[in-house]
Amino acid sequence: MQAYRAALLSFHDDGSARYEPDGLLVVGPDAAGRKVIRAAGAHAALAGNYPGVHVTHLPGRILAPGFIDLHLHFPQTDVIGSPAEGLLPWLEDYTFPHESRFSDHAHAVAMADVFLDELLRNGVTTALTFCTSHPHSVDALLEESERRGLRMIAGKVLQDRHSPDGVRDETEQSLLDTEALIRRWQGRARLGYAITPRFAPSCTEAQLRGAGELAARYPDVWIQSHVAENRDEIRWVHQLFPHARSYLSVYEDFGLLRERAIYAHCIHIDDTDRALLRASGAAAAVSPTSNLFLGSGFFDYEAARRAGFRYGLASDVGGGTSFSPFHTMLAAYYVGREGQTKIGVSLAPQDLWWQHTAGAAQALGLEGVIGNLRPGCEADFVVLDPQATPLLARKTAHARNLDELLFSMIVLGDDRVVEQVAVDGVITSRRKAAAA
Ligand code: GUN
Ligand code: ZN
Repeated sequence: MQAYRAALLSFHDDGSARYEPDGLLVVGPDAAGRKVIRAAGAHAALAGNYPGVHVTHLPGRILAPGFIDLHLHFPQTDVIGSPAEGLLPWLEDYTFPHESRFSDHAHAVAMADVFLDELLRNGVTTALTFCTSHPHSVDALLEESERRGLRMIAGKVLQDRHSPDGVRDETEQSLLDTEALIRRWQGRARLGYAITPRFAPSCTEAQLRGAGELAARYPDVWIQSHVAENRDEIRWVHQLFPHARSYLSVYEDFGLLRERAIYAHCIHIDDTDRALLRASGAAAAVSPTSNLFLGSGFFDYEAARRAGFRYGLASDVGGGTSFSPFHTMLAAYYVGREGQTKIGVSLAPQDLWWQHTAGAAQALGLEGVIGNLRPGCEADFVVLDPQATPLLARKTAHARNLDELLFSMIVLGDDRVVEQVAVDGVITSRRKAAAA
């Protein structure tokens, strides 16, 4: 067993945060031999229960759950910051050409290393990520994730139409490949597979039907796609699927709305769609830096809360502009203020942080497994330095309560705040991860 003494940030079931200024986090095997968090709470209350256990003292540091990125694209690491009029030209001009390079296995392997280094540098310990349409892009990413002991979920993109040579796949083969990848990766080590139709316009009905059949046959497997991101995209969906009630209902019609289905964006949806998300157990991956960068629109937090469906935060790299959860949380705050409703909401710092940790875990159906510092959770956590920069040190020194402390880091923080990352109980120094 190992223990860490520092401030602790965790979450209650209602999403509110719990902060222990002088805490103890104890990591060790559970009854089944899995390495988990055995205890988390006040140092004074817990220390006596663990005589002989080595305690690493981290004064001035905060231990917090590793961040969870609910939606991004591993092959778009180099696409960040590519300017375009909007989603569809951005896909044609930058994204598809970049993704076609992943037909080269060696390129995919090299980029897996870069991508995972970048996630870890930013304190992200779990991500639900798109790969490319090339099946070996999944192998490249998940082999490296397994080597690093990470909990990652990934899928081969399905796109058998309206896609250029180099990324377009073939209907029947794409479904055979998907099933082979499910069998190879779902439940191996800490890894999971996600059935990944790129978005309705890039998939024939036969491909969507096949994806839905696989989703029914493998209920533990995740589903990931995009929906209602951009107005031109939505017009296109209405032309392609004239009988569908809405863009989201296209996915419902093919059996692709269920628990463990995560839909990026969910911006231009109505209350019937929101009720559908809630009833099906599907979740939204809110991707604010992407939505601001591509001019897609604003996720409606008020309406989401009223409807009661699950949602959490995502970077959507490379439409998104940053791997940093701090940047994503700040962008979500802007979106909340400027959102679709006239009033706008001021999202609480605790709520923003929850959306990127325990809330995201809940969206994935992994509550109690990741995203929190609670007994029984896997030991993926970050060591944060609230004095990482001179301005942040000034600001956090004056914080009068938890929301002020968290908001200082959300507004001024980036990868410099993430001093160390623990993956499955093993601390990797930030510098080592960067050099790996
Ligand atoms: N819709 C279809 N493909 C993509 C993608 O790669 N990124 C984003 N943001 N939206 C998409
Ligand atoms: Zn995306």
